[in-house]
Amino acid sequence: MKILLTGGSGDLGQTLVPRLLVSGHVPVILDIREPTDLPGGAIFVQGSVLDRRGLSAFFLGIDCIVHIAGWHGIHESNGEKNAHDFFDLNVRGTFEVFEAATSLGIDKIVHISTTSVHRPNTLYARSKILGERIAEDYAIEKSMNVVILRPRGFIPYWNKAVYTRFSEWAQWFWRGAVHIDDVASAVMQSIDLLSRQQLDLVPVLTLDSAYEYTDDDLKNWDANGAGSTFRKYYADFYDLAISYGLDPTAKPNRLDIVEAVRWLGYKPTYSLANILSELAAHGDRGPPRT
Ligand SMILES: NC(=O)c1ccc[n+]([C@@H]2O[C@H](COP(=O)([O-])OP(=O)(O)OC[C@H]3O[C@@H](n4cnc5c(N)ncnc54)[C@H](O)[C@@H]3O)[C@@H](O)[C@H]2O)c1
Repeated sequence: MKILLTGGSGDLGQTLVPRLLVSGHVPVILDIREPTDLPGGAIFVQGSVLDRRGLSAFFLGIDCIVHIAGWHGIHESNGEKNAHDFFDLNVRGTFEVFEAATSLGIDKIVHISTTSVHRPNTLYARSKILGERIAEDYAIEKSMNVVILRPRGFIPYWNKAVYTRFSEWAQWFWRGAVHIDDVASAVMQSIDLLSRQQLDLVPVLTLDSAYEYTDDDLKNWDANGAGSTFRKYYADFYDLAISYGLDPTAKPNRLDIVEAVRWLGYKPTYSLANILSELAAHGDRGPPRT
């Protein structure tokens, strides 16, 4: 299929492009900025999702859209974007994408939302809630096939503009995040689902990382003393974790991914064990980007 990625020059888009190529799709990146990498077989179109006239040309011949373009939490916390910016890109941008898609008969869209919709005390969260409403409205009123993905934070360690050291990224991930590769897998599974069947409702799917800890571990957290649950799985890494500022006593807040498993067969692979072994092997340089 010819698959258009709005905001495809960003982290998620760049992670998806090679996967789409390997799966035999033609990725089309629509972004206001050029991608750092454009592998053979991928197409780049410079343009904005806010360009109402342009969208009908950009979307010509497209089978499926992954709607990624959006300002996120970091653009709010660093004061880079204001309420108008969030409304323009995350709300109106979403409307423009769905409206142009439906008018051209494109009926398959993977909409990238966020778990932040559960904490509507930010401009970001509120704009994403409205984005989801638009996506659901088009699915129902225009019979579009839409999958809404709600990943936790997935900024990759290789985004040096945000995390200069691997341990800085690891400390952030430790508080609850999902690896960008797992998010990309869920997008690929969503595309596969949309290519196989018509949807009569809109799956809204939370994406979290993998965990070694069981339900029982989380229920009886550190019942045998501070750090005891951590030691059950990662005893050899206790000192390493402390030396890189990771708190072995911190109880993870695991999210319910049962719907993503049911709809997509989602199976996250990246867990705290991966972070610890990558820190042990590569230190603050982090692993090479695959
Ligand atoms: N990064 C996270 O931790 C995280 C977590 C949950 C959800 N999300 C969601 O993922 C999406 C962001 O993905 P990312 O992490 O790859 O972000 P990113 O910032 O790396 O990429 C976003 C891209 O959108 C492009 N863009 C901006 N304005 C545009 C416009 N008008 N038209 C077309 N493209 C435009 C930017 O140039 C950029 O390349 C957002 O929808 C966000 O809500 C992100």
